[in-house]
Amino acid sequence: MSFSVSTFSPPTGTLPLCSHGRRIPNRSSHIMANSLRSTRASNFCQIFHGLKLWISESLSVLQHNGTFGSSQKLKTIKNHKEDEFEKKPFEETSSHARQVPESVLESKISSDSNSETTKAATHSKGSESLQSDTSVDVENSSWSSGSLQQSTMLNYIVQGDQVPSLCIAVIGATGELATRKIFPALFALYYSGFLPENVGIFGYSRKNITDEELRSIISATLTCRIDHQQNCSDKMDAFLSRTFHVNGGYDNNKGMSKLNLLMEQIERHSKANRIFYLSVPQDALLDVACSLSSKAQTKKGWNRVIIEKPFGFDMMSSHLLTKSLLSQFEEKQIYRIDHLLGKNLIENLTVLRFANLVFQPLWSRTFINSVQVILSEELGVQTKRFLDGGGIIGDIVHSHILQTIALLAMEPPISLDGEAIRNEKVKLLRSIRPLEPSDVVLGQYKSSTDDKVDLSLDNLTPTYFAGALYIDNARWDGVPFLIKSGLGLIKHCVEIRIQFRQVPGNIYREHFGYNNESATNEIILRDVPEEAILVRVNNKIPGLGLRLDSPELNLLYKDKYNVDVPDSYEHLLLDVIDGDSHLFMRSDELAIAWNILTPILNEIKKNNIKPELYEFGGRGPIGAYYLWAKHGVRWVEE
Ligand SMILES: NC(=O)c1ccc[n+]([C@@H]2O[C@H](COP(=O)([O-])OP(=O)(O)OC[C@H]3O[C@@H](n4cnc5c(N)ncnc54)[C@H](OP(=O)(O)O)[C@@H]3O)[C@@H](O)[C@H]2O)c1
Repeated sequence: MSFSVSTFSPPTGTLPLCSHGRRIPNRSSHIMANSLRSTRASNFCQIFHGLKLWISESLSVLQHNGTFGSSQKLKTIKNHKEDEFEKKPFEETSSHARQVPESVLESKISSDSNSETTKAATHSKGSESLQSDTSVDVENSSWSSGSLQQSTMLNYIVQGDQVPSLCIAVIGATGELATRKIFPALFALYYSGFLPENVGIFGYSRKNITDEELRSIISATLTCRIDHQQNCSDKMDAFLSRTFHVNGGYDNNKGMSKLNLLMEQIERHSKANRIFYLSVPQDALLDVACSLSSKAQTKKGWNRVIIEKPFGFDMMSSHLLTKSLLSQFEEKQIYRIDHLLGKNLIENLTVLRFANLVFQPLWSRTFINSVQVILSEELGVQTKRFLDGGGIIGDIVHSHILQTIALLAMEPPISLDGEAIRNEKVKLLRSIRPLEPSDVVLGQYKSSTDDKVDLSLDNLTPTYFAGALYIDNARWDGVPFLIKSGLGLIKHCVEIRIQFRQVPGNIYREHFGYNNESATNEIILRDVPEEAILVRVNNKIPGLGLRLDSPELNLLYKDKYNVDVPDSYEHLLLDVIDGDSHLFMRSDELAIAWNILTPILNEIKKNNIKPELYEFGGRGPIGAYYLWAKHGVRWVEE
């Protein structure tokens, strides 16, 4: 593959907005678990951080003492009201199936189409009248999907002071991502006591299924994690009994109004916070987002919206999407999720850098020769959605790789606050030179049977990306950041390698033989195949004579920490609940990341650049090895 020089023009022109151009103020408060209800909302975030810290400290103490099995102690503290609550399951308290009347729903929908002031007034009035209506004539209504849903709903209401303060709606509940990842992650959080015990979980789709049918779909994928299996089926039943399906139909405005009414029934008069996880196809995203913005946001607490990848397919489409989203939501309401950023390796980057004096002074061009960021997979393309957005460029490089580099190379933030970290990431991303096409190698794997390209791929879609990035600032001037990311490669590997310069005037150089480069110190931060932190040092081989080698100081997680690593969706969902935004891309980060990659995307489009073919299960295009050599880097293949 060869590139010629190209230029990039930022998008211009008028951009379409969603139809309801209203900004919803974010009432910035925090989740109120029952055990913490008396605590001021503004303090909750700190308490939550404290809780997380306390839990991790407890884990390490338990681990240190070799008695990790005491997770019961944590659960007792986190869910101390739960036992009492679970003695009265919802289904036992009422056997009557009741429904929200269609007339109430219709009047609510029409009143919502009035002016903004009227909307707000009608909204709260509507919610009160719904409560009283519900107790009077709800039995005649017909829109809802199943009787169990209504009986369970009313049982929530009957609980009085146990009304949940957090509702989580998964929009696109019957989809692959929701059933495979989102619901299991929510259950894991619920099981571990990270959700308020009366949380309301809503699955929203256009399918006409009952609560029971949704529960049956998602129960197939719920699992209890390894180290705390006690009461697993009870917990699962409790979780499922709090899960409801909303048939949104083909008009999301109506669908979101239904969702809002159901949530209001659960929330009643309590302070109410809501999370909406938008797990719908890209073409449905804006319609869903606009409808929920106007119809389903609570005014009694905060609303947070999780947006799934892809965040557009290039600079322009991403810009349009962002502009539309920002016409509906405040920036701080939007959480763009990339599950790869929920890995422990990523969260640990800032800890290693900013909590260790041993690394801090080394973290610059003075000592570091190159940085390599590697994400290779054995599998090929799994789904059609990968085909858009420049293949692997949009799917992996734009978000995961650039975010990794930003966290690894940014200046110290003033605090651990999400915005403080995002500010530093933005500065770093701004300092990255837009990629020169000549510093990129694109590849596409061949079919395993013959030399034809995989039939599911467009022949311009890269499944492999190798690139050399430079950061034009005082800390990193001249240090190449090398990226290798590909599918259908020889092995699954996720790691960062930081290679140091050679020791100046090394008096031991003759003891390393001809290959002085193998004597460079290296830090390897590995997620896959086995999570580990390795530091390569030069060492005397024991025995007579002076022979040196370069072994690794090895922190292998599975040996050191006897803990069950949560799925990255759990980690990121907890961050959303907690209001911790640092692992979610802000709109400006998103735009700058596209800016870095746009010259490459333009070049592919303009000149129909075909990626270099490589063997499925191989090491990727040969061109990548020339690229590393051009930037003076020894590429380590293990
Ligand atoms: N699957 C993954 O591993 C993965 C990974 C990263 C990102 N993502 C992203 O996550 C999103 C969902 O992916 P998926 O694989 O779960 O897709 P999917 O299997 O096609 O499911 C889509 C869901 O959205 C609902 N839906 C579709 N159109 C809708 C509309 N107009 N209004 C309301 N609901 C609608 C569908 O249910 P009905 O048809 O019944 O309405 C279904 O529940 C996509 O944006 C995808 O790019 C997925």
